[in-house]
Amino acid sequence: MFETLSRLNEDAILGVMAKYRADPSPLKIDLGVGVYRDAEGHTPVLECVRIAERRIVDAQVTKTYVAPAGREEFNAAVVDLVLGRDHLAVGDRRVIAVQTPGGCGALRVGAELLRAAAPDATIHVSDPTWANHLPLLGGAGLRLQRYPYYDAAAHRLSFDAMIERLQRAPAGDVVLLHACCHNPTGADLDDDQWHTIAELLSRRGLVPYLDLAYQGFGLDLDADAQGVRSIASRLPECLIATSFSKNLGLYRERVGALLVVGASEERAAAIRSHVLQIARSIYSMPPDHGAAIATEILTDPALRRNWVAELATMRERVRAMRRLLADSLRRQGGDDGYDYLAHQRGMFSLLGAPPAVVERLREEFHVYMTADGRMNLAGLTPSSVDPLAHAILRATR
Ligand SMILES: Cc1ncc(COP(=O)(O)O)c(C=O)c1O
Repeated sequence: MFETLSRLNEDAILGVMAKYRADPSPLKIDLGVGVYRDAEGHTPVLECVRIAERRIVDAQVTKTYVAPAGREEFNAAVVDLVLGRDHLAVGDRRVIAVQTPGGCGALRVGAELLRAAAPDATIHVSDPTWANHLPLLGGAGLRLQRYPYYDAAAHRLSFDAMIERLQRAPAGDVVLLHACCHNPTGADLDDDQWHTIAELLSRRGLVPYLDLAYQGFGLDLDADAQGVRSIASRLPECLIATSFSKNLGLYRERVGALLVVGASEERAAAIRSHVLQIARSIYSMPPDHGAAIATEILTDPALRRNWVAELATMRERVRAMRRLLADSLRRQGGDDGYDYLAHQRGMFSLLGAPPAVVERLREEFHVYMTADGRMNLAGLTPSSVDPLAHAILRATR
């Protein structure tokens, strides 16, 4: 039977990671991987997570199933975190939330829901977008189209082109938006732009699908959710995929949630029944341990304060690396062409150079990033900033 399957190409990011591991140079710099790293190059277990985890292990009396929706206390806490306690849609009981295996699980369950509701709908994704969006959404059978989002040579949003394209999308189509810390560009919409997009989606009858994988990594937990909150206030329906992989460092525990805002309480209840059936048909129940940790942290005021502080430390470290790198490039290069790095948000930015430059950086300078020139600035330390700036300037000139 399996002779019909030919061998697939290696995943691009895993390929970069393998090359990095095989490089014996002590000077190598890893900007390829998609996780947070501290100044020692580790992806730490947060202290609040350690405390919560100990409590859970000590108190746990069973490992029996939870439910296809996961923990209801977790789901309620996630709605608070994402939409805020006083959101109108929450007051109207139009929001449903279901725990999922990570943000990927949420994205896929949401895509299956869209496919069930509107099999002919197209989902519009930003150009560029996170590479995994394509199989996660397309794998559910949704048709994909790209809208212009970022001008990599000019290092800025292509907002007018984005609006112009979305204006032509037919009513009932879906628009995927990165809620904050756009992956891979680091270029986010500002408040006015969110407003303009919400107005356009509402006027054109388009459905927003928000990917919130980095809440707290841009400005802070509330500011990073502003776009989501504004969309959910202005539109009758939307989907939100959220994740605790990055902001709680729970990557391997697979903790996320799918939130759906329905046009009425009855619609929301119907949506929920479909979401649960979809979950049941893919993985039955989400894993519990990470969600138990997240619940403990979100609902215990002292632990939550610890988390907010630890999250600020991670965020500020990345922002400091961005500033140091932009400064070093200005000092060594003599112009401000890389200042954009200091202003963009989250862990990622694009170098804006062709694949040949990315290859040269790897082969000559031991600097690793994905072929599209995506750099994870969390891979930097104060001592690797100047060598990286030097390598970038040499490789691009
Ligand atoms: C844009 C984006 N969305 C969603 C995710 C989902 O992450 P996870 O499934 O690990 O929670 C990621 C992870 O890298 C991401 O970058």
